[in-house]
Amino acid sequence: MKELRLALIEEAGLADVVELELDCGLKTGGVKRFLGLLPDPRTILLGAFTDRLVGFFSGQVILDELQVDNVAVRPEWRCQGIGHRLVEAALEAARLRGALTAVLEVRASNFAAQNLYRRFGFSVAGRRAGYYSSPVEDALTMTGRIRVKT
Ligand SMILES: CC(C)(COP(=O)(O)OP(=O)(O)OC[C@H]1O[C@@H](n2cnc3c(N)ncnc32)[C@H](O)[C@@H]1OP(=O)(O)O)[C@@H](O)C(=O)NCCC(=O)NCCS
Repeated sequence: MKELRLALIEEAGLADVVELELDCGLKTGGVKRFLGLLPDPRTILLGAFTDRLVGFFSGQVILDELQVDNVAVRPEWRCQGIGHRLVEAALEAARLRGALTAVLEVRASNFAAQNLYRRFGFSVAGRRAGYYSSPVEDALTMTGRIRVKT
């Protein structure tokens, strides 16, 4: 694999994040949404870069909880550990900001993302019927404790 670098995403990189969201078939709030989040010190917006953005993680630390918004890796870069590296770095960044736990919603059929979080000790805490649209699908709520890296 080309050398991979993790770094916080800055304003100039937001258009690439939106392009990556679309590339991954995710809904996007566009650059405008990220522009609103970026100045907020609670926001964690982390990118995985080769010569371009190949993955990103977004979330917010609210008091002692990391609320995960999204994690995505470009299709051609998947299954090479990039999602794992992004989540690992994001959890560490959240821990340093005082987060003790993390929470996220994931499509019930999205086993790749569920397995990714299980690797960090997350488990299913609940189910929200019809949470997603296009297509309509239940969400699983997953929670996990943020552990000190050993
Ligand atoms: C979920 C996603 C980010 C994983 O990224 P990735 O870089 O391919 O993941 P990694 O290679 O780091 O894999 C880490 C772990 O995730 C799990 N995983 C990843 N892809 C998987 C797949 N296709 N099927 C099952 N488990 C998978 C595995 O447990 C894997 O660990 P292992 O290789 O030791 O078994 C990627 O599939 C993606 O971008 N999906 C589309 C966007 C999305 O659904 N985001 C989640 C929204 S909640």
